[in-house]
Amino acid sequence: MIIAIDGPAASGKGTIARRLAGHFNLPHLDTGLLYRATARVLLDNGASLEDAAKAEAAARGLALTDFDEARLRGAHMGEAASVVGAIPQVRAALMEWQRRFASRPEGAVLDGRDIGTVICPDADVKLFVTASPETRAQRRALELRGRGENVNFADVLADIRRRDERDSGRSAAPLIAAPDSILLDTTEMDVETAVQAAIAAASAN
Ligand code: DC
Repeated sequence: MIIAIDGPAASGKGTIARRLAGHFNLPHLDTGLLYRATARVLLDNGASLEDAAKAEAAARGLALTDFDEARLRGAHMGEAASVVGAIPQVRAALMEWQRRFASRPEGAVLDGRDIGTVICPDADVKLFVTASPETRAQRRALELRGRGENVNFADVLADIRRRDERDSGRSAAPLIAAPDSILLDTTEMDVETAVQAAIAAASAN
């Protein structure tokens, strides 16, 4: 079974994806990490995040050592990943890798922005997880503070809005709900309620 989970930043899709993977005993790929790692390589090399040729080379050359989550989860890395994610050559470079992951015999859970629309259009289950920008900013601020970062709510909300706009407005694989996806608005849900709703939706498939 292939489960595709898309949605905006801090909607809860990562937690839901991990829990679904555990529940159905499937491997999970957080595709945001691929974009974050690509941005990290560019920043480490002092390159511009908008240099399409260097960004494509970085995406094609990703190695396991580039996936140190502590260096990929910081506040500004989401924004940096969103910038490289708007480059079509980067998306093309990362596509095969994601499709290979999804083609395992047992299936897989992938979460991102274009999984149900571009990477796995034939997924068995598609969820589009969302929540209001304010709720997402609250969750993200809590998460970042938990990691020891000194952030304020207004900055985090502005970052979320900017990312929503860039991720939804880009021409290459914009963030959009697949027509056959199940919408899960987690604004009024706690984690457990959202996870149970997602498990119920996937089980009904
Ligand atoms: O899911 P995340 O917050 O880790 O993603 C960080 C950024 O990476 C996101 O704002 C846009 C980009 N991204 C993307 O363009 N496509 C994906 N499938 C996953 C992430």
